[in-house]
Amino acid sequence: MRNRKIIMAARPVGRPKPTDFQLVEEDAPEPRDGEVLLRTLWLSLDPYTRGRMSAARSYAKSLEVRDTMVGGTVNEVMASRRPEYRAGDIVLGYAGWQEFAISNGTGLRKLDPGRAPISTALGILGMPGMTAYTGLTIIGQPKAGETVVVAAANGPVGSAVGQIAKIKGCRAIGIAGGADKCRLLIDEFAFDAAVDHRSASFADDLAKACPNGIDIYFENVGGAVWNAVLPLLNNFARVPVCGLIAHYNDTELPPGPDRTALVMRNILTKRLTLRGFIVSDFVAHAEEFERNMGSWLREGKIKYREDVVEGLEKAPEAFIGLLSGRNVGKLLVRVNSPTK
Ligand SMILES: NC(=O)c1ccc[n+]([C@@H]2O[C@H](COP(=O)([O-])OP(=O)(O)OC[C@H]3O[C@@H](n4cnc5c(N)ncnc54)[C@H](OP(=O)(O)O)[C@@H]3O)[C@@H](O)[C@H]2O)c1
Repeated sequence: MRNRKIIMAARPVGRPKPTDFQLVEEDAPEPRDGEVLLRTLWLSLDPYTRGRMSAARSYAKSLEVRDTMVGGTVNEVMASRRPEYRAGDIVLGYAGWQEFAISNGTGLRKLDPGRAPISTALGILGMPGMTAYTGLTIIGQPKAGETVVVAAANGPVGSAVGQIAKIKGCRAIGIAGGADKCRLLIDEFAFDAAVDHRSASFADDLAKACPNGIDIYFENVGGAVWNAVLPLLNNFARVPVCGLIAHYNDTELPPGPDRTALVMRNILTKRLTLRGFIVSDFVAHAEEFERNMGSWLREGKIKYREDVVEGLEKAPEAFIGLLSGRNVGKLLVRVNSPTK
């Protein structure tokens, strides 16, 4: 048997070109003890693969030139030298862009073809579906009546986000490229509104589609879509940062001081939690604060320092000094001494 596989022939610069890939033929491998031979039935193509082709440090290892392209697969077991698999079993695997692969069983999961079409293990019942479900419900925390916006909304992640948002009682707004894709959002996936990010009036159209602002923006794309979303975010909006496909082919940051793409990339790949707050949001914790801080102070576990300026007339100068770092510790003006 011959194996056909696609390797990364060159590291792409910007948008990948056909010459960055190469089809290679070789003898199909033979399973040894503890291994199974897999034949690929379905191969998943996903945006993250562009990241694997880049040498930039990320959450997963980069491909080297001449490596087989990586990807999730649904496979048929052709021959097994592992007790838990038999020829004919259908499994979810990670065989990559090739027809045959050897596996030692790591990461393989048996699929039940009677439960759902086996291809769904790579989509709605697989990684993209789970991405949508977890990102929206755990990070997004949707509540009935809220407005949820998602871009790349026809894709496996976005379409699931929109539909789960509806199940949770939210208003779902989908962003897609072009009139046909927008129509599909309404007709097939029952979004409440669809907005075309290729239209010249995109930002205005999005604002009109979100008269009550945006409570959850499920970030799949970044770039111009993020710029249009940002001013519409409500207080306490949540932004699960899932993907930034608008930037995957970037070779450098845009000129000028705008570092949004870099910030967002770090938020995503390092799973940063950034959450703004105003202390008054937490009045309910005041008693707990006073109890803990009071006892830490009494026990000498916490120190504090005061920078005291004498006389109200010194307040302006001291305040100006505060803004340039002249104070050391809590800046206070002693305005008067107690009468007793
Ligand atoms: N964090 C995770 O664990 C995780 C897991 C899975 C996926 N993801 C991310 O989730 C996002 C969606 O993944 P998917 O598999 O569902 O992909 P997808 O929607 O099937 O495919 C990508 C879509 O992105 C849109 N797009 C491409 N460039 C764009 C741009 N410059 N501006 C706006 N939209 C653009 C296009 O749709 P339109 O023509 O409609 O714009 C394209 O069809 C990706 O960013 C992916 O990397 C993250």
